[in-house]
Amino acid sequence: MYQDDHPELVRERNKKEIEKLKPMLAVDQDTKLLDVACGIGRWADAITENIKEYCGVDFSGELIKIANERNNRENFYFYEGAATDIASVLSEHKKGTYNTVLLIGILMYVNDKDLDGFLEQLEHVCDQHAKICIREPIGLQDRLTLKDFYSNELDDEYHAIYRTRDELMKFLNVGLIKKGFHIEKEGFLFEEDALNNRKETAQYFFILER
Ligand SMILES: C[S@@+](CC[C@H](N)C(=O)[O-])C[C@H]1O[C@@H](n2cnc3c(N)ncnc32)[C@H](O)[C@@H]1O
Repeated sequence: MYQDDHPELVRERNKKEIEKLKPMLAVDQDTKLLDVACGIGRWADAITENIKEYCGVDFSGELIKIANERNNRENFYFYEGAATDIASVLSEHKKGTYNTVLLIGILMYVNDKDLDGFLEQLEHVCDQHAKICIREPIGLQDRLTLKDFYSNELDDEYHAIYRTRDELMKFLNVGLIKKGFHIEKEGFLFEEDALNNRKETAQYFFILER
């Protein structure tokens, strides 16, 4: 994600991602937005409109601390918690349901055995009418699993599952589409070759609505 060796690329990808996906969310004063695995609140920065509520959750206490320091808008909240405990994290903080949900770069860190349960909880914290935006790197040909993989870019071990689009669809079918959501839009995020700097994977998005 950080690609610290290429700060320009990070900035350009961020800009293009927000430009492409944000209009699809159609945020307005009624938007209640849940950002699962919010990191330091990159997407919170992008929401410059007055919305009803933004709630970001991430299991890294360190990132949540930074997010809280960077953001001081009144109705923007950041909480520490695991995506797979999202329902209890929200109820602990007396939060309700949401009409806009961001899953930006998170499903790749959730194991297969936990994914159905996560999507089931997510569906429960969505309003009857809701939009979910998923942005994920997908495996282009095959599923790619990195386990205890040493990354030079991060100078640390890295674990991630790059599922194929069809594999992701199987999970979305069970967890969301059977619960009334449909795919409103989907596709590759970047058209520019320069922004797709991986051979085996590429950034993909789904907008689901019900
Ligand atoms: C690729 S980053 C994306 C951050 C943010 N969504 C963004 O787009 O800027 C992945 C984030 O997921 C968080 N994360 C990974 N596994 C998680 C889990 N099981 N529960 C909650 N957060 C998790 C990491 O701490 C990290 O902030």
